[in-house]
Amino acid sequence: MAILKIARLGHPVLLQRAEQVADPTAPEMRRLVSDMVETLQDIGGLGLAAPQVHVSLRLFIWRTAAGGYSALFNPDIQPLGEETEEAWEGCLSIPGLRGAVERPARIVFRGQDVAGATIAGEAAGMAARVMQHEYDHLEGILYPMRMTDLSRLGFVEELARFNAPRAPENEGQKP
Ligand code: NI
Repeated sequence: MAILKIARLGHPVLLQRAEQVADPTAPEMRRLVSDMVETLQDIGGLGLAAPQVHVSLRLFIWRTAAGGYSALFNPDIQPLGEETEEAWEGCLSIPGLRGAVERPARIVFRGQDVAGATIAGEAAGMAARVMQHEYDHLEGILYPMRMTDLSRLGFVEELARFNAPRAPENEGQKP
């Protein structure tokens, strides 16, 4: 187990399209997931994608509502319905900032778990947002690239001072 170094905005790995994982059950994938979970626990974040730890593979993890961690390999995510929601997001690769991002409110997801089994489901609210944010990392997309109004991007402390809504929907840092 190890705490991994996080790639920050400006590192080219964050802009690459990540590669498919041939075998999610491979020992090195088990080790990677375990290290990513340890890294996310250490930071207290909600989600982490493999490219953020300098591994350009199609894998992300997220903290579940029950407080555990799930991993999804080779994910496919599609919007469910037309409804969108705007919420504040942060990113471990862009420390200290938050931005308002509009995204589909509900999604369907499919992928493989650590045992290589196909898993699929629907998500809404925070879970849907985190999964879309993490999926974007696999496509080389960072949340500011999704923003339509960059005046709603700022440092956490300043947003708090000037009474922007509190921003719990961060991928990474503790609020
Ligand atoms: Ni992120």
